[in-house]
This record gives sequence, structure tokens and C-alpha cells, in this order.
Amino acid sequence: MEFILVTPQAQPHVALIQLNRPKELNALNLQLMGELRDALKELDENEEVRAIVITGNARAFAAGADIKQMAGKTAIDMLNIDQFSTWDQIRKTKKPIIAAVSGFALGGGCELAMTCDMIVASETAMFGQPEIKIGVMPGAGGTQRLTKAIGKAKAMEMVLTGKFISAEEAEKQGLINRVVPVELYLEEAFKLAGEIAQMSPVAVKLAKESVNRAFETQLDEGLHFERKNFYLCFASEDQTEGMNAFVEKRKPEFKGR
Ligand code: CAA
Repeated sequence: MEFILVTPQAQPHVALIQLNRPKELNALNLQLMGELRDALKELDENEEVRAIVITGNARAFAAGADIKQMAGKTAIDMLNIDQFSTWDQIRKTKKPIIAAVSGFALGGGCELAMTCDMIVASETAMFGQPEIKIGVMPGAGGTQRLTKAIGKAKAMEMVLTGKFISAEEAEKQGLINRVVPVELYLEEAFKLAGEIAQMSPVAVKLAKESVNRAFETQLDEGLHFERKNFYLCFASEDQTEGMNAFVEKRKPEFKGR
């Protein structure tokens, strides 16, 4: 891996992926995204891992897709490269992913953070979809996810003007989970991941899949999907253990089965 650093057990049951192209503000070139896809696939299959944190560095989570790599491309080049098929695979990660964001989360960087399941930000974080300023538009889900997260009016303004919003504003708009001082954002993300890692991995996986369905389907189908996954939880040993532990007033021991 050239552009990312992977630590499968950064904390018990929590993996860390750090985007590592600091000089280019972690601009997401094709190789970096390929590495990210492969790392997530591997961590998804690693039974020791129950939650994943993705971060950049204090200055930038990621300043977008790599403009230098795209600058000379034609529409047909873009169609053939089909860079967003990598993103489709990232989206299929079953384990929960928390973005720990500091500094710039712009364009594809903002979209990558939104592709994660939760976002913990430092107070220096800035979110934006500035593609309009370089004559294009968001291409990795920004128009969809941002609109669903913060509503049409605010999303339209960000996408059509390219204006950034602060971490404080992003929290107010419901785009992110919380804002903490810059020296604490990674720690806070680990704390959240650690909390989730104590739950039943089976139930976490099914619950994540179900919450995501709310974004992807109409209510009727979403409710049906949620119900099916809820019933499926009852096929797991973790459900028996979790409920018995509650009744017996003890801490459950989840095994992911
Ligand atoms: N692609 C390629 N290189 C980038 C980059 C990007 N998205 N963002 C920053 N860089 C590079 C700069 O070119 C610069 O490299 P050099 O030192 O070789 O010149 C280096 O990173 C540092 O950047 P700056 O000197 O520009 O730093 P700054 O502090 O002055 O500005 C910034 C920071 C406001 C984030 C500015 O770099 C910027 O506007 N970046 C582009 C943001 C953007 O438009 N993102 C959207 C990309 S398109 C997209 O993402 C499509 C999609 O939907 C997937």
C-alpha cells in the first residue's frame, strides 16, 4: 500500500486506515481509492475487526478526487475508467466505518466521509462540494447524500456555490455526529468505534444494512427490509446471549455468531 496506512488492531477490535498523501492533501487518486477498497475488503473479512476508523491528518481528511489526474480526460475516458465502481465496492463494507475528519473534507473527500457511517470532526474541519468551481459537479454521491443529510436548500447552496461549511455548522445541520478539539478527534472516533465494537457484530451488521436502506429505498420497502433483518437477529447466538445477560443482570459476551 503506497497511499494508505492500515492498522488492523489499532484498538481492541477496531481497525484504523489513514489516508497518506499528505503533500497533495490526500487527494483521492485512482490508486489510493483502489488501496482503500482492498483494505476495507480485507478488514471486512477479518473476524477480529468489528469497527473501522478512516482518517487523514490534521490538515486534511481529503481535498477531493485528484484534479490533476482528471484534468485532461474526456467523457469517454471517464466512462471507461469508471472510477466510481471502486466506490460502489467501498459502500458494500458490512462493518461500521467512522470517518475521523480534521481540516479539509472537500469534493470526493466530503463524499468519502459521507460514505462512512458516522463522522467525528475536529473543530478545524471544513466540509464542501467545490466541484462547481472547477466546472464539474459532485460525482461520488454528493448530490444524493448531502441532500438527504442536510436537506435540499442547504445542499443546493453548497453544491451550486461550492461554499464550505465549518464543523460547527455541519453538526448543526446533522451532517456529522460531533465536533471536538483537534487534539481529540481521533480519540473520540475510537471511543465511538470501541463502543460499537462491544455490541453483537451480527446485530451491528444487520442494523447498519437496515439504516442504509432508509437512504436507498421508499419507506414501505425500507420497513420490510428492517423487519426481515430484525427477525434474522434471532437466528444468532448473540441475540440469546444479549437478552439472557440483560435478564441475568450481567455484561453480555458477544461472539459474532
Ligand atoms: N487534486 C489534486 N491535487 C490537489 C487537490 C486535488 N483535489 N487538492 C489539493 N491538491 C494539491 C495542490 O495542487 C497542491 O499541490 P502542489 O504543492 O504540487 O501545488 C497541494 O495539494 C497543496 O494544496 P494547496 O497549495 O492548494 O493548499 P491551500 O492550503 O492553498 O488550499 C485547498 C487548500 C483550498 C483545499 C485547495 O487545495 C483546493 O481548492 N483544492 C481542490 C479542492 C477541490 O476542488 N476538490 C474537488 C475535486 S473534484 C472531485 O472531488 C470530484 C468528485 O466528486 C469525486
